[in-house]
Amino acid sequence: MIGRNLLHRSVSGSLALLFVMCVGLSNPLLARTTQRAKARIDKRAFGSLEDGTPIDLYTLKNRNGLQVEITTYGGAVVTINTPDRHGRKADIVLGYSDASGYVSDVSYFGALIGRYANRIARGRFTLNGVEYQLAQNNGVNHLHGGVHGFHKVVWQAREKTRAGGVALELTYLSRDKEEGYPGNLAVTVTYVLTNANELRIEYAATTDKETVVNLTHHSYFNLAGAGAGDILRHEVKINADRFTPVDETLIPTGELRAVQGTPFDFNRATAIGSRIDQADEQLVFGKGYDHNFVLNKKGRELSLAATAYDPTSGRSLEMWTTEPGVQLYTGNFLDKVRGKAGRVYNYRGAFCLEAQHFPDSPNQPAFPPTILKPGERYTQTTVYKFMVRGAKEKP
Ligand code: GLA
Repeated sequence: MIGRNLLHRSVSGSLALLFVMCVGLSNPLLARTTQRAKARIDKRAFGSLEDGTPIDLYTLKNRNGLQVEITTYGGAVVTINTPDRHGRKADIVLGYSDASGYVSDVSYFGALIGRYANRIARGRFTLNGVEYQLAQNNGVNHLHGGVHGFHKVVWQAREKTRAGGVALELTYLSRDKEEGYPGNLAVTVTYVLTNANELRIEYAATTDKETVVNLTHHSYFNLAGAGAGDILRHEVKINADRFTPVDETLIPTGELRAVQGTPFDFNRATAIGSRIDQADEQLVFGKGYDHNFVLNKKGRELSLAATAYDPTSGRSLEMWTTEPGVQLYTGNFLDKVRGKAGRVYNYRGAFCLEAQHFPDSPNQPAFPPTILKPGERYTQTTVYKFMVRGAKEKP
């Protein structure tokens, strides 16, 4: 059964990959630049922890010159350099110039999130009759794995060879009782920058004791360039007929509510800003969009979850995932954060599309389960694909 699921997953994953590669090659700008350079990966020092532990920065470059920087601190994506419709490059993710920025960060810029992404009500859940108490680091709730979650640890890195791109494998062993979670959890996350202009993130984890797992990636995108104003004119499309409404502390009520007729209907591409300030209770609770969308899908196939498009630059993004949900967060808590090259990131200056299981699943029996048992293997794959619209071919 498990074998069949895996086979099904990898076959549907390959088909999806083939599809997105074809889309990429049909794009004139990308086709023009294809195979110019050699894909490569470089490493340099990025800083250190107070105790002297070194923190590295890896630069991944694909054959089209697309460049992604990843630090071993929090496994964070620091930079994504992509062309606009005129071929001009810009860095489209928020981040910091060195490791110390990430050590003091409170926004989770670009980071790997775990052991449990998003919120757990009152930081409490029960497994096999044992109640576990986690840090309440977001009002009364637990958020993004706690005070010292996966975004605040140094990951072990290894460069990997992959056909069709360059890859960086990150591993971390989260010890039994770390941040209050049961079981030693061995985590591997592989970032693959493909020659089809995708950043593919493959997650895997195993445990020696029953636990809960929900991993995600927290890049803040601004397709006009990080620090280039707000993202309210970006057009977003989400393949979801329902979302999970929340209470005022952003914990799901348990309802799967239809998006139709609400500001949460992104089935047609819609500017983020067109409804964000409506007097809708959910938007008031989230201070904008900060909600989990229930993706329209049958199972764990890698499927197109969302697209985003910036009409000014022509840059667009597709997000594919095996997960059942995606959190759209519109940077409602960003407030004059000083980032790379002295740039200041303001309120709603970026958006996140976080692939995930639904928030608070350990306390919501009707939600898809997030329990991992010894002998099982947690997996999730998410792909961000970078494209441009309206590029003109040079004669
Ligand atoms: C997630 C949460 C938000 C916020 C950001 C980080 O998207 O849902 O409420 O905490 O992370 O600031």
